[in-house]
Parts: sequence; structure tokens; C-alpha cells
Amino acid sequence: MQEFSFHCPTEIVFGRSAEERTAGLLRKYGARRVFVVYGGGSVIRSGLLARIECIMTAEGLAFSVKGGVRPNPRLSFVREAVREALEFGADFILAVGGGSVIDTAKALAHGTANPEIDVWDFWTGKAQLTKSLPVGVVLTLPAAGSETSDSAVLTSEEASEKMGLPSPFNRPAFAVLNPELAFSLSSPQLAAGIADIIMHTLERYMTHTEGNEFTDLLAEALLKNVVKHAPIVLAHHKDYDAMSEIMWCGTVSHCGLTGLGREKDFSVHKLGHALSAHYDTNHGESLTALWGAWARAVYEDRPERFARYAEKVWGVDAGSPEERARAGIRKTEEFFRSLKLPTSLGDLPTGVLEHRALEALADNVTAGGTRSVGAFHPIDRAFALKIYEAANHG
Ligand code: NZQ
Ligand code: ZN
Repeated sequence: MQEFSFHCPTEIVFGRSAEERTAGLLRKYGARRVFVVYGGGSVIRSGLLARIECIMTAEGLAFSVKGGVRPNPRLSFVREAVREALEFGADFILAVGGGSVIDTAKALAHGTANPEIDVWDFWTGKAQLTKSLPVGVVLTLPAAGSETSDSAVLTSEEASEKMGLPSPFNRPAFAVLNPELAFSLSSPQLAAGIADIIMHTLERYMTHTEGNEFTDLLAEALLKNVVKHAPIVLAHHKDYDAMSEIMWCGTVSHCGLTGLGREKDFSVHKLGHALSAHYDTNHGESLTALWGAWARAVYEDRPERFARYAEKVWGVDAGSPEERARAGIRKTEEFFRSLKLPTSLGDLPTGVLEHRALEALADNVTAGGTRSVGAFHPIDRAFALKIYEAANHG
């Protein structure tokens, strides 16, 4: 087990009607002037935003509301929102929505606390983040895990770059998790969220670090639990118990616990971010479209690790480590397909890509060949291209 430090200070309030506690939580964490962000309108249609506004009004909190966050959230929106939050005098940012809204709220908190710095400079490393505003979350989509994660992912339209910023300042002060708020999700969005939850643990699971049994068992339990409840919740969106399992696993999957004591890989995320930066590809779908190609390209580095995954999560217990590894990869892809998720680039709305488009993706992910990504098998430009090529079929 490698050394680690783990500090996840987010207060989690879970359960039916949990959002009714939002105003009390805002007060508890020092909010006086709350800047609320939301997405394209699902929280208006569900009545959630109106309920939160009522609760804040009753508590005597001043607030300003801004909607319009799009999936794969944009830097330009954040810059505009920073100006508005500064004018309003915000001292707290409240996200009501999914990962894109939460990441926008985090970026907005950083930008508002540091008005003299362009917020993108924190993402590029030009500026170091030393302070921010507190962020609260009312979660509507189990997926990104941003409600407790130390990361925020933003897309710069100018740079055509989608990047994550790791920082302890990204951990929200509180997160309200009511599984009922996710009942209104469409099946494709719910499936994409489930895939993202699986990937947050899988991208930590494939490792060369030995002897980390508790973290391994936790990861395997989480993966099995998501695989078990995914078909149930997709068949019955309003199954509270099944949605509870998915939502809680979504949070635990990305808070850090399922990877403690070993290095993180996250290659497939980086490869997927390039797709989203170029084609606005849905995040979860970008991962399932590429994971199989990545896994087949790297499993021979440590077949016994993939074999363990195949055995513990999919019950594959016969054959050589290589055979079990390949069976585990196949079963994962079959599972994705059973959720109607893409398992190749050709399955995405963009379809099979021309070779020069694959080269542009490989350039994007490796900054023109100047860096490698991932830890399990460091991926340089040539290897990234190989993975995109392997995924580029119908
Ligand atoms: O915008 P609205 O109208 O709210 O609709 C959204 C959006 O269209 C809809 N939706 C959300 N909750 C709903 C709902 N529709 C009906 N009922 C509900 N209850 O779902 C659509 C997608 O929303 P989005 O927030 O984009 O999805 P998700 O939560 O999957 O977040 C994806 C973003 O998070 C980033 C991704 O890269 C992507 O940009 N990630 C952030 C991470 C982090 N900060 O730690 C880690 C992840 O790996 C991920 O990279
Ligand atoms: Zn993800």
C-alpha cells in the first residue's frame, strides 16, 4: 500500500426530502448571499429550483439565480457568471444539478474569490489556487461524483481543451443527495451516469501496486453493486432503493476511497475528454466507447490484475490469466451494450472518424506529443492513436 492522505470534508445529507435541509446547511456553512447555478431547465420542470428558492426565502437568505450550464461546461459561461457573482457580492455558490453544474459552481467559486486572476489560469497551472468560496450541492444526477470529489472539469472553447483541475478547494462544503431527484432522468443519461460511476472505480483499480486488499475489496463491492442495480433502476426509474444504491455508489466511487493507497490511472477519462472537447461527446459515453480498446491495448502489462477483476466482478473463474482477462473485458462491454451504451467510436453520434480526426484527438490528449497520460500504461501520442484506431469501428 502506498502512502496517502485523505481529507473529504463534505457533509453528506442523504434521503427522501433531503433538499429541505438546504437552507439550514447554507446557514451552517456561513452563507449570507448565495449565488445559485443550474443547467438547461430540468430543475425548473421538476419544481426543484422553485422549492429551493422558497426554502432560502423562508430562511432569510439573499440569493441570485443563474441557469444555462450546458453538459461539458464551458469556460465562457463561468467567466460571465463570475462577473455576475461579483456584482451580487456572493459569498457562497450553490449548485442545483449534475456534474456540469457542480463543476461550474466550483469554477465560479474560484473565480469569484480571485477576481484579479482569469479562472482558466488555475486549470492551465499558470496560477495556483490558494482560496475559494464555499460550494454546496443539491445533486440531481448520480454520475460524475463531483458532489464530493476534489476535481472540477471545464472546457475552454478557445483552446478546444477539456481539463480537470485537482485541488482540495474543489471539495464542496455539503452535498444533498435525494435519490428521488434523479427519477426524472432519461434512460440514456442515467445509463451514461452509471458508466461514469463504474469508470471512476475501474480507472483506480487497474494498477501495478500490490497488497492493497481493503481498497481492492471496496472497489470490487462497489462495482458489483452498481452492476446489480443498474438494470433494475433502468427498468424502474422510480425504484427508490435501487436509485439509492446507484447514487451512494456514485459518490463513493469518486471521493477517493476506492483508490486509496495506489496511483490513479484515468487514461480513458483523458482520451474521452479529447472526444468531448472536439465533438461535445457525452462524458459517460465517451468512456464506454473507448474503454474496451484501451483495455485490450494494455491488459498484457498485468493480465492477472484484469483476471482478478473478471473473477471478482463478473464471476469468470476458468482459464489462464490472459483468457480470464479477455473474458472480463468482453463481459464489461456486453454490460455496457445491455445499457444501450456505445462500445466504439462508430456507436457515437459522430460515427466512424477519418484518420486525420483520430490524429487530432491523439494530439489533443498528449498536447501534440509533448506529454503522456495515465499510470497503468503511460500513453504517448502513438499509443493514444493506436487506441483511437482500435475503437474506430461501427
Ligand atoms: O441541464 P439540465 O436541464 O439540468 O439537464 C441535464 C443535462 O442535460 C440532465 N439532468 C441532470 N439531472 C437531471 C437531468 N434531467 C432530468 N432529470 C434530472 N434529475 O442531464 C444532462 C447531463 O448533465 P451533466 O451535469 O452534464 O451530467 P453529469 O452529471 O454526467 O456531469 C458530466 C460532467 O461532469 C464532468 C464530466 O467531464 C462532464 O463535464 N466530470 C466531473 C468530475 C469531477 N468534477 O470530479 C469527474 C467526472 O469524471 C467527470 O469528468
Ligand atoms: Zn468521469
